[in-house]
Amino acid sequence: MKPPVLDCLERLDVRLAEAVAAARAAYGIEAGRDAFRGLHIGEDEVTRVLRRSPGTSPLGPGSAAEVPGLGWLADRYDLSPFELNVLLVALAPEIDLRYERLYGYLQDDVTRRRPTVELTLNLLCEGTAEKIRRRSDFAADAPLLRHRLVRLVADPHQVEPPLLARYVVVDEQIADVLLDGTGLDRRLAGWCAIVHPSDGETRFKDLLDAGQRLYLRGPPGSGPVALDRMLLHADLALAPGDPVGFTDAVRCFLREAELHGAVPYLDHVDALDPHRLELTARVLADLPGPVVLGGKAVWAGGELAVRTVEIEPPEAAERRACWVAALAGRDVAAADLDLLAERFPLTPRAISEAAGASGGDTLAELSAAARGLAGHELAALADRVEPRATWADLVLPDDELDALREICARVAGQERVLRGWGFGHKLSRGTGVGVLLSGPPGTGKTMAAEVLAGELHLDLYRINLAGVVSKYIGETEKNLDRIFDAAERASAVLLLDEADALLGKRSEVRDAHDRYANIEVAYLLQRMEAFPGVTLLATNMRHNLDEAFTRRLAFSVRFPFPDQASRASIWRGIWPREVPLGPDVDADTLASRFALSGGNIKNVALAAAFLAGPGPVTLAHVLHGVRREYQKMGKALTSGELLGGDDG
Ligand SMILES: Nc1ncnc2c1ncn2[C@@H]1O[C@H](COP(=O)(O)OP(=O)(O)OP(=O)(O)O)[C@@H](O)[C@H]1O
Ligand SMILES: [Mg+2]
Repeated sequence: MKPPVLDCLERLDVRLAEAVAAARAAYGIEAGRDAFRGLHIGEDEVTRVLRRSPGTSPLGPGSAAEVPGLGWLADRYDLSPFELNVLLVALAPEIDLRYERLYGYLQDDVTRRRPTVELTLNLLCEGTAEKIRRRSDFAADAPLLRHRLVRLVADPHQVEPPLLARYVVVDEQIADVLLDGTGLDRRLAGWCAIVHPSDGETRFKDLLDAGQRLYLRGPPGSGPVALDRMLLHADLALAPGDPVGFTDAVRCFLREAELHGAVPYLDHVDALDPHRLELTARVLADLPGPVVLGGKAVWAGGELAVRTVEIEPPEAAERRACWVAALAGRDVAAADLDLLAERFPLTPRAISEAAGASGGDTLAELSAAARGLAGHELAALADRVEPRATWADLVLPDDELDALREICARVAGQERVLRGWGFGHKLSRGTGVGVLLSGPPGTGKTMAAEVLAGELHLDLYRINLAGVVSKYIGETEKNLDRIFDAAERASAVLLLDEADALLGKRSEVRDAHDRYANIEVAYLLQRMEAFPGVTLLATNMRHNLDEAFTRRLAFSVRFPFPDQASRASIWRGIWPREVPLGPDVDADTLASRFALSGGNIKNVALAAAFLAGPGPVTLAHVLHGVRREYQKMGKALTSGELLGGDDG
């Protein structure tokens, strides 16, 4: 289909032909032949210029014809025919470069290939009086500039050029829409997408019809996949960063939605820092029509009034309906749909993604896609730990073991766990179970995390906090957000290793950086509390933890350096059943001779087993392993230790 703009251009051509004729008379016949026109000013040109009275156009009287094809644009931005014609004049070179040549000629300067304000006035105004009056259409608060339909660009070679000498350039987005009107603006690539309407979702129909500003609040991913009208979805977590670029991006997004006749849907508002949230709220305040916002925390956009709608995560029955919709036309057994709905606590969006990602229609394939969807995001951010250790392997004083059992009972007792993390209640504070695991290296903290996750039948993911803490302000919080959101979707237990990286920074505030470190710690606590699962913080306690911090954690378990009896138990349990042991390898003796942690003992046992090869592991192998382990720790073995108390 021919864009309506082309018809308009034909009309513009008529005016240009008149103008060229007038120009030929005004500039003299040789104007077109002079290759350096505009680069020098000749004698006769000066005389000719002086003859013209100020303000008159060398292009004859013009007029702003009606532009019927662009009526919708005029309605939307309240544009006069004159303003529409300005757009058209500026747009023409985007369609056909011959306009550049014509404009160069009409402006009597080969270097001026884009229309200046003066050229548009000369082409479109009847006389001097109108030209002067129309200058106001190029003011910053007039529709053309206010709505960013055009930009006025100064020639970089000119010093502070007058308004008349500025070039009129159509905004890219407007040019694209006028020319074809389908694709999205380049500036929105990567964070915005058109969502086509689906008849199924009519929950918010009335509110949107009434032009409401909706804030859909719920756990990550619980927002609607599609609505009964077209949406332009923006993931604010991925929007451009710096404040200026950000505001422009949001404006560009909103106008794109408007141009496509789509409702803007700004998702993940929680990803915005307070400053950017405020900028967004300010831009939205001027938006007349309906808008959809999405996030999981209470609306924090200050003055901007929104209508909050709590989105409950779907129950199994609802999830089944989502699976049915997502798998429409595919051959899936009803019993399989039941199982999928029951097993995977996915949100509607995730279900539609899983259905799309699945390689086939069998239960196994669909389950794999669902599992993958829950875990793949987190797997990119954290290391999955296969929980192997059990209660029987863990050697700890009774008190500590009891504390760990209590944690399990507390978590398992929560109804929400049984029904899948985060599915059952709205997000409320204080449901998260935060546990501090502290103790010297190799004392069983990671092992205990495995035992807990195994007992709860949940996946365990380990994150090295040292890698999450960023020196850039605000980045640490963003990293934490990503991890906690993904963990929530994956129903995982989080083990944050090397918590010292963050906690150690707390204590007293010495400089601005410490203050940010405190904000980061406060943020971590807040995320842990809002996270509907278990967060385990492991630390070596190289720094003293501040009491205000530990108080906010549900549990704190200390992992002592093992005493002799514990070491003996660890030595006994460390050998896999298949390993043949020599008679001289005695757990009690080893425990009494070497003050080694569980982690050290494991390393020694592994080294000894390698040294022994297929034969039995003897004391000599173990002692060799011990020497290596001491070397690693930078400690020397005393001969007493090496030979044993009796011989020394
Ligand atoms: N209390 C323990 N009971 C039984 N085995 C232990 C114990 N502590 C450590 N081990 C052994 O040492 C290995 C390493 O321990 P683990 O990784 O749990 O230590 P950690 O406290 O997490 O150390 P780090 O602070 O270095 O992370 C375990 O896999 C286990 O074989
Ligand atoms: Mg560890």
